[in-house]
Amino acid sequence: MVKHRLYAFLGLFFPVLFIQQWLPMREYNSPAPPKTIEERIDSVMKLMTLEEKIGQMTLFTSDWDVTGPTMRANYKEDIKKGKVGAIFNAHTAAYNRELQRVAVEETRLGIPLIFGYDVIHGYKTIFPISLGEAASWDLEAVEKAARVAAIEASAAGLHWTFAPMVDISRDPRWGRISEGAGEDVFLGNAMARARVRGFQGDDLKATNTLVACAKHYAAYGAAQAGRDYHTVDISERTLRETYLPPFKAALDEGVGTFMTSFNELFGVPASGSELLIDQILKTEWNFNGFIVTDYTSINEMVDHGVVADEKEAGELAANAGVDMDMQGAVFYNYLAQSVKEKKVSKQQIDEAVRRVLRIKFQLGLFDDPYRYSDVSRQEAALLAPEHLEAARDVARKSMVLLKNDRQTLPLSKELKSIAVIGPLATSQADLLGSWHAAGFAEDCVSLLSGLKDAVSSNTSVMYAKGCDVIGGDQSGFAPALTIASQADVIIAAVGEGWDMSGEAASRSNIDLPGHQKALIKALSGLGKPLVLVLMNGRPLALPEVHQQADAMLETWYAGTMGGPAIADVLFGDYNPSGRLPVTFPRNVGQVPIHYNMKNTGRPMDPNDKYTSKYLDVENTPLYPFGYGLSYTQFEYSDPTVNKSTFGPTETVSVEVNVKNTGQYEGKETVQLYIRDLVGSVTRPVKELKGFQQIVLTPGQSRSVRFDLTVEDLKFYNRDMEWTYEPGEFDIFIGPHSAVTNAVRVKLLKK
Ligand code: NOJ
Repeated sequence: MVKHRLYAFLGLFFPVLFIQQWLPMREYNSPAPPKTIEERIDSVMKLMTLEEKIGQMTLFTSDWDVTGPTMRANYKEDIKKGKVGAIFNAHTAAYNRELQRVAVEETRLGIPLIFGYDVIHGYKTIFPISLGEAASWDLEAVEKAARVAAIEASAAGLHWTFAPMVDISRDPRWGRISEGAGEDVFLGNAMARARVRGFQGDDLKATNTLVACAKHYAAYGAAQAGRDYHTVDISERTLRETYLPPFKAALDEGVGTFMTSFNELFGVPASGSELLIDQILKTEWNFNGFIVTDYTSINEMVDHGVVADEKEAGELAANAGVDMDMQGAVFYNYLAQSVKEKKVSKQQIDEAVRRVLRIKFQLGLFDDPYRYSDVSRQEAALLAPEHLEAARDVARKSMVLLKNDRQTLPLSKELKSIAVIGPLATSQADLLGSWHAAGFAEDCVSLLSGLKDAVSSNTSVMYAKGCDVIGGDQSGFAPALTIASQADVIIAAVGEGWDMSGEAASRSNIDLPGHQKALIKALSGLGKPLVLVLMNGRPLALPEVHQQADAMLETWYAGTMGGPAIADVLFGDYNPSGRLPVTFPRNVGQVPIHYNMKNTGRPMDPNDKYTSKYLDVENTPLYPFGYGLSYTQFEYSDPTVNKSTFGPTETVSVEVNVKNTGQYEGKETVQLYIRDLVGSVTRPVKELKGFQQIVLTPGQSRSVRFDLTVEDLKFYNRDMEWTYEPGEFDIFIGPHSAVTNAVRVKLLKK
């Protein structure tokens, strides 16, 4: 104790001396002789009381940020008492260093805290929202975005990000569709892996990496009617085929933690689901990181109606395999009592604590608890020029050109005048999207500024708002129409406000809100070239404006460098290459309308009444999954195969020739889809199984080859075994999911 105090005292003046001399006096910190992490965990756990163990299973929010319905005034007291092992919503190097100091110096065992935060699409330099990043279909770009986020956040005292969100969603009403990679499993798996790689790098111990968290486990994206936190009722087949694979992909990439979801599944809330946590994640998949709940989701099991009170809720969660309780204080308040009553075993607690400590050791926190809190590194990293450049690059790669009649785009920088209209044209805050972490609106470059910076000195750029995003009136139409009627081109920035998607932001109507539709109609009446710049966090239903606009660019929420990135695309400094990661319906009544639906026994035929369709809408999406235009054109040959029959140990190569027949260099995303014609269970009409991005100069052509094996043809058969079945498959290669060019192959029994 005396030694402890002495070092603490010296540490005030000589922090390095303090770390080096004080920490090693504990057996588990001893660097020599070299011990494995598991041995070091054993040596800590030997010293821990039950209360200290439960502390490691407890995560509280600080008061820096509000990301849920409850707060906790006394989290600093809890740290001091060793009753909390992890803190979230606290950041910056200096602030977290001080909290860490209390944990390390003032608690009996000095176990360092782990600091988590929602670093979803950037920390200070904000990248496009995750759905937008996924629209790039560019895995390197997405990995880079996560890498930059990790470099910045880890310099600001953070160790752990609550990302990637890997929930597949097929319902644009659900606001959180903006946080994921869209509707498709194959793309979702690839994005999950890229993001985990980006956040975690090769080494969790490196001071510029974060431990990632695959969330929300599981099937949260299947909330009924797209209403957030709502019931999920899907089959085990759908769970395993559609919702689980991106979690497994994240795990295969080495993700360190998982977060449970708010929803129930098969009648049991995810935070109490033994099936999901203990059976699938821990046993079937052998996950050895830790599992945290979502915000107060243990407590919410009382409202779900599967337990009578919070104590029972804690028992259900702990016995299902939850390792850490986020913010609910249920483990904190009741778990010790439950252990005493033998409702939860000591082994269960030890297992959870071991998992939490393992991640802390892997992060190197026991070697140096302050290694992620470096004020000078933080200063250099945040908004570093190369980070801003990366944000601009990823932003323009994420944009999807939805329409471009008569080659309205790209625009000349020498135009005499441009009228910029719309409530989102000057907005900086909306560019951040939901989850802006430490990003500030004032650091964002608005569309109007981006345009002004891009044009020549001869171009006059005029601005009028026209109307608000929601509510308001049409009194701003007249000034907007006046400047628009004087301009060569109208650019209208419309869409949703940043808080209309994300958590707790479901919409029952996915039209352009407020008076924006009327504004566009009025602008289109002027007969000038009308370019719509869309900013939104979900697919919108845009049938009318699609008719009225000459060109439409989907820019999502493009982040800190949104304005310049949009200008890059509008003026042709970057040829748009984004592709939709999610289907855009014509109206909300068509939902779900993802591309990989089943054929049914009466596939849609507009000329046959008794087929599967709606009477009151064209029975196709407005824009299919995978769709996006370029300023150039690409022509595809019919796909060919090197063999039309093949055995289960063989590879079949499918090839297509792609030619740039337009005037610009451009990047094309060549997509391969399969259809299994006859299965022991019905199969989707198409399934994405590969994509490649190629850049072609005008006139250039290139052949693109995909190699398929039975691994690409497997599915859960009638007995729920993951296997392939011999038979015929159509293989489609083209620019989007509505492609019809196919070649047929036959998989033989052997
Ligand atoms: C609730 C959200 O569902 C989750 O995604 C987030 O990570 C936590 N709050 C923490 O802010």
